Amino acid sequence: MRSTVGWQAGHTGTPLRRTSLERRELRTDDVAVRVDYCGVCHSDLHAIRTHTGEAPLVPGHEFTGVVTDIGHNVTRFAIGDQVAVGNIVDSCGVCAMCRAGQENFCHEVPTLTYNGADRHDGTTTLGAYSREYVVRDEFTYPLPAGLDPAAAAPLLCAGVTVWEPLRALGVGPGTRVAVAGLGGLGHLAVKLAVALGADTTVISRSAGKAGDGRRLGAHDLIASTDQRRMAAARDRFDVVIDTIAVPHDVAPYLGLVALDGTLSHLGHLGTVTVRATDLLVGRKKLSSAGSGGRPATAAMLEFCAQHNVTADIELLPSARVNEALDRLERNDVRYRFVLDMSDLPRNR
Ligand SMILES: NC(=O)c1ccc[n+]([C@@H]2O[C@H](COP(=O)([O-])OP(=O)(O)OC[C@H]3O[C@@H](n4cnc5c(N)ncnc54)[C@H](OP(=O)(O)O)[C@@H]3O)[C@@H](O)[C@H]2O)c1
Ligand SMILES: [Zn+2]
Ligand SMILES: [Zn+2]
Repeated sequence: MRSTVGWQAGHTGTPLRRTSLERRELRTDDVAVRVDYCGVCHSDLHAIRTHTGEAPLVPGHEFTGVVTDIGHNVTRFAIGDQVAVGNIVDSCGVCAMCRAGQENFCHEVPTLTYNGADRHDGTTTLGAYSREYVVRDEFTYPLPAGLDPAAAAPLLCAGVTVWEPLRALGVGPGTRVAVAGLGGLGHLAVKLAVALGADTTVISRSAGKAGDGRRLGAHDLIASTDQRRMAAARDRFDVVIDTIAVPHDVAPYLGLVALDGTLSHLGHLGTVTVRATDLLVGRKKLSSAGSGGRPATAAMLEFCAQHNVTADIELLPSARVNEALDRLERNDVRYRFVLDMSDLPRNR
């Protein structure tokens, strides 16, 4: 085994603590990545807050770094390459979804970057709040030149999670898009929708984010608490991307969807209650999405390099991870924390 250092969750609610951890020796199709930057996703917070302590939990599933070692059969990467990895590190490779390039929907469940089960030895995967990660080359992406590696890290979960539905729903010039919840996912949804040419509106409960919305390229901001403006925006948007991190009534957001349009509900992944008539009136569609397949992830990175899209980040030394998590919980981040892992040694 290879040893490295990372940040591990204790029982529910206790701070993460620094610990040494093991990575597997490289298989023939593995690369070892020195993790330089890892984004802090709200999903990490959900995982930490509900952690029971049975299996070790090291969060972190959107990161960039440098290849330090390659397995015998790896041809796509060389030592020294800058790379990016997201929240899927393996899949069966043969089911219909994998064959369609939608490894994120693999029938055998894709292996998650943390809290997943390794397909070969069944061990629990440990995430990238650590200095080294060992990953199959197929789920490692070259980081395009020109993308800042710290600000690009959040593209690998937050970015691709909103990119897939934007593309699948045909967003482009002339499409009217609304993004509900201006956080990590939401601000990248705005930037990507704007870069795709869409007329883009932010729906936020935080009126103070109006100026940010415009700086991100949005054409309008509607406060979700403003009943008059919400009513005036009825049936206005072809696509509504809902990234709100808590359970909520989807009816007000379905109300904003245009005739034959779609609400993509991808922030809160629990049960959704919907009245059929809220879909019936306007033939509206309710959908969801999560993560990205390999082709979409690679395409998203290329698009971001071409259009200069990265996250707005606050970079913190990894030793301040608990402060980042607490502030994320309080909605006190504009718009993504990224941990700088250079304060950790690569080896124990
Ligand atoms: N589908 C997937 O595969 C996938 C992938 C990654 C993350 N997620 C999930 O997506 C959600 C968003 O993640 P994120 O990292 O973008 O989180 P985030 O940065 O915390 O942003 C979430 C936004 O939701 C809004 N919000 C938060 N609490 C709220 C409340 N009590 N009432 C109303 N609005 C509230 C806020 O926007 P305003 O201040 O603008 O209202 C906040 O900025 C999380 O639940 C996360 O687990 C899903
Ligand atoms: Zn995530
Ligand atoms: Zn599969």
